[in-house]
Amino acid sequence: MTTDSTDILRIFRAVVAPGDTYSFEADTRDDAAVAYFLGEGITSFVADDNGRVIGMYKLIANRIGRGSHVANASFMVDPSEHGKGVGRALGEHCLDEARRQGYEAMQFNFVVSTNTAGVALWKKLGFNIVGTLPKAFDHARLGKVDAYVMHRFL
Ligand SMILES: CC(C)(COP(=O)(O)OP(=O)(O)OC[C@H]1O[C@@H](n2cnc3c(N)ncnc32)[C@H](O)[C@@H]1OP(=O)(O)O)[C@@H](O)C(=O)NCCC(=O)NCCS
Repeated sequence: MTTDSTDILRIFRAVVAPGDTYSFEADTRDDAAVAYFLGEGITSFVADDNGRVIGMYKLIANRIGRGSHVANASFMVDPSEHGKGVGRALGEHCLDEARRQGYEAMQFNFVVSTNTAGVALWKKLGFNIVGTLPKAFDHARLGKVDAYVMHRFL
C-alpha cells in the first residue's frame, strides 16, 4: 500500500508527545519527522489494520562503510494499539527483512531503560543489553534515566 506522510506524522506525534521513549522534542518539524522514516538509505514498513496505519518501523545501516553490516531500526506503534502484538509483528518482520538485505547483526543505540515494553520486546526477540549509557535520556516525568545499547546477531 502507499502510505501518506500524514499517517507517519500522526503516529510520530502521538509516540513522541509523552517524552518517555524518543529524544525527539514535541515540536520536531514535520519534514524532519517524515525524513526520519522516509529519508535516503532507509527502508520503512507500516502495519496496516484494514487500511489504517497502526505502526511503523525503519531499517537503516547503523554506520557507513565498515560498520554498515550492522543494521539499526526504530519502531513506533500507535499508542491506542499498544499491547496487541503489533510491535512483535513489526519486530519479527524487521529481523527477517534485515537478514534478507544481508545484514549480520542489529543494534539499537538508545533504548530508554524505563521503556518496559520496548526492553521486554527486544529481549524476547533475542537482543541483549550490551551497554548502559548512564542518565543519557531526559525523561519527561522521571528526569535523567539510563539508556541501553541492545544488540543481537542475525
Ligand atoms: C515498544 C513498542 C514498539 C511495543 O509494541 P506493542 O505493539 O505495544 O507490543 P506487543 O503488543 O507486540 O508486545 C510485544 C511483547 O512485549 C511484551 N510487552 C508489551 N508491553 C509490555 C509491558 N508494558 N511490560 C512488559 N512486557 C510488555 C508483551 O507481553 C509481548 O510479549 P509476547 O509477544 O511474548 O506476548 C510500542 O509500545 C511503542 O511503539 N512504544 C513507543 C515507542 C517505542 O518505545 N519504540 C521503541 C523504542 S526502543
